[in-house]
Amino acid sequence: MYTIFTAALLSALTTASPLTPRAGTISCPIVFDGRIPTAFSTDPTKFDTYATNTIYNPDYVKGNDLNWSTILKFPGGTASRFDGTDHVPVEVTISDQSIFQTQKGFRRAGLQFLKDAADGEGQKGVKTLHFSVKQDSARPLNLTHEYLNVWHEAADYSADQIMFQTGTIIGSNGADKNNFKILDRNGKSLYSTATDKTQWQNFAIKLDYNKK
Ligand SMILES: *[C@@H]1O[C@H](CO)[C@@H](O)[C@H](O)[C@H]1NC(C)=O
Ligand SMILES: *[C@@H]1O[C@H](CO)[C@@H](O)[C@H](O)[C@H]1NC(C)=O
Repeated sequence: MYTIFTAALLSALTTASPLTPRAGTISCPIVFDGRIPTAFSTDPTKFDTYATNTIYNPDYVKGNDLNWSTILKFPGGTASRFDGTDHVPVEVTISDQSIFQTQKGFRRAGLQFLKDAADGEGQKGVKTLHFSVKQDSARPLNLTHEYLNVWHEAADYSADQIMFQTGTIIGSNGADKNNFKILDRNGKSLYSTATDKTQWQNFAIKLDYNKK
């Protein structure tokens, strides 16, 4: 048994747009679909090995001695915008066991698209990252801490092109700790909005690699 001291609820993590195409040619196909099929929530051990996990990397990025089947929760409730009837929300938990490799300064549990690669589709052309988030009142975030909930990292690890955060960004006074914040690769704020404690909130971030 480990103490969960925080959690964030995340669903429909996908790249590309739009997700509800009109009839006819799909001009923006889904490149990475991070939605969780219902079968994965009824047997979470599917997340633990390459043999069954075709969505996310089963090994990264998480506490060394934990498996995804114990890290992830499936709280149910209202479906998010893109989940429909075939997919369910997923909740990521962190604890003092969430130490990746020897990174003891923070706690990590991050689902990584299995098929993304340093020179892959996630870094080419124009891509839009869609995600929906909702708070779990049973496991509230401690906003005295900084949370990096969604991000996309440059292939050379030099920076994150975008960061979706909440809580008190380290080095700040925490005045905006109740807001979700979208930061650019230099940590500059691009957008900020209040965290809704009860409803789903939907975000989409366009990444234009032609302009880099
Ligand atoms: C994690 O899952 C793998 C594959 O099912 C299993 O071999 C291993 O014992 C599990 N590890 C822990 C810490 O539960
Ligand atoms: C929130 O985090 C701060 C800083 O680590 C800690 O002092 C405080 O006790 C935590 N609050 C709760 C409710 O866990």
